[in-house]
Amino acid sequence: MTGDDPREEPRKFEDEASGTAADAVAVGDEGATPLRADGGAAGADDVALDPWGSSTVSDYRKLFDEFGIEEFDDVLDEVPHPHYLMRRGVIFGQRDYRSVIRALQNDEPAAVLSGFMPTGDPHIGHKLVFDEIIWHQQQGAEAHALIADLEANAARGLSWEEIDEHARSYLLSLLALGFDPEDGDLYRQSENREVQDLAFDLGAEANFSEFQAIYGFDGETDVSHMQSVVTQMADILYPQLDEPKPTVIPVGPDQDPHVRLARDLAERMRFFKVSKAYASFELEADERELVAEFYERLDPAEFDDEQLRCVHVAETLEETPLAELGVGASTLESVLTKLNEGGMEPLRPRTRFSDRRATEDAFDALIDAVEGEKRVYENHVDAFEIDRAEAEELAREIEVENGGYGFQPPSSIYHRFMTGLTGGKMSSSIPASHISLLDDPEDGYDKVKSATTGGRETAEEQREKGGKADECPVYELYAYLLAGDDDEFAKRVYDECVGGERLCGDCKEQAAQLMKEFLEEHQQKRAEVEELLEEADIELESPRRR
Ligand code: TRP
Ligand code: SF4
Repeated sequence: MTGDDPREEPRKFEDEASGTAADAVAVGDEGATPLRADGGAAGADDVALDPWGSSTVSDYRKLFDEFGIEEFDDVLDEVPHPHYLMRRGVIFGQRDYRSVIRALQNDEPAAVLSGFMPTGDPHIGHKLVFDEIIWHQQQGAEAHALIADLEANAARGLSWEEIDEHARSYLLSLLALGFDPEDGDLYRQSENREVQDLAFDLGAEANFSEFQAIYGFDGETDVSHMQSVVTQMADILYPQLDEPKPTVIPVGPDQDPHVRLARDLAERMRFFKVSKAYASFELEADERELVAEFYERLDPAEFDDEQLRCVHVAETLEETPLAELGVGASTLESVLTKLNEGGMEPLRPRTRFSDRRATEDAFDALIDAVEGEKRVYENHVDAFEIDRAEAEELAREIEVENGGYGFQPPSSIYHRFMTGLTGGKMSSSIPASHISLLDDPEDGYDKVKSATTGGRETAEEQREKGGKADECPVYELYAYLLAGDDDEFAKRVYDECVGGERLCGDCKEQAAQLMKEFLEEHQQKRAEVEELLEEADIELESPRRR
């Protein structure tokens, strides 16, 4: 992507959504990649989603198109009392978040979990995730926050002393911001035996080629780095160990590869796969669609004994020009082969339970549990009187009763990366670009005062044309943090800026003052929750030292 490409604005209110944003970049990366001359924009065709690299996301729309992340706006209306980060579009994307919303609305079990690699001081980027966890906890979700100490050690090479120090600091900020440790769960990966056992189990369904494709691992990659991946998969599925439940993982989009893999693994661990079928044999998805279409289209009365049979569909398909079928020649060929082998078998829609990883007992239990007409085959059971949703529920129930996990694919929500105060990327290796939650309040004040803005060359020009709030890191601070829950205030700053009534000097003074107050207050609260942290059920000092 080049510097002048249109980008999405970092925040929005109904009808002002236009304009561009400065490059929004990962917070918390360790700055391995230097700032690029174009301000950190990624190459024209790639959106780099690298969990351990320096993820640059310069075009959020690509995340929708290329990776299948869905827009948060699609579900915003359904969220009860949405958090301001949701209302302002800072949380911009989601996968399958509806299942979590529904559970929260219906007072059904739901969970939130996120993890923190203790590589440095917690900063205002981490605060977004802390807030997201806390909000879900307040909405009734069971809340988990974990310290990814194994990952920090394996993937980043941090010593255990450093890890302990940073971990403690993350936890203090999390508690200071309102996480309730009595109602929620805190753990560190290294101390969680259940997570490690689950990681080992999940590893059975993942292999090296896949890691290579997803993460770019190669022959030089440490085995413990790979192990930290399955550990994260186990973290993500951990809330479902006591029972399957909708779980949301709030993260930055750089973590999306992990979310996708976790969703895949959750599925692969299932005992049964439920699908729709038309005859005793298996059809691929596109083949099934074709058969489904002809099943709907053909009238059984037109055939010999008023039965629609496999060969009939095969004959009709052969008479239909390929162009009308909407499939390739090879799909047609394979579907014809299957239908002809099926011969006189009647075509009848059914719900299929395929045995994937089921134990023998579980498979037998499933057979017993299916009500109404059914056919039992070696590796699947076809049910004729159960719909898809009922079947899914039954499959999970039988799995869990027979010792399986019954995982639901985890959901996720994604927040935007913040722009650095110096423009370009916010990076923990450039102190002036970001604000640590431990910064001396006066330093926080100074950093905001010397931040880059979206202002014009002169006050006169600013009054005439208005400022570029959409490209302004200071405006971002208001929207992401300083305005808090006060939408009206955030909107006023925005309107005054673009309307030319607000000049950068005063605007920064106000922001700097608010930042100073925020840091003072936050640090005060950190001191107050020290005791709460000591009492919390988490090991603060690792026995490991090497
Ligand atoms: N990999 C994450 C990071 O780099 C940390 C992490 C570990 C995590 N386990 C997790 C994040 C589970 C979300 C969910 O920050
Ligand atoms: Fe940014 Fe404020 Fe200047 Fe507008 S007035 S460009 S929001 S610093």
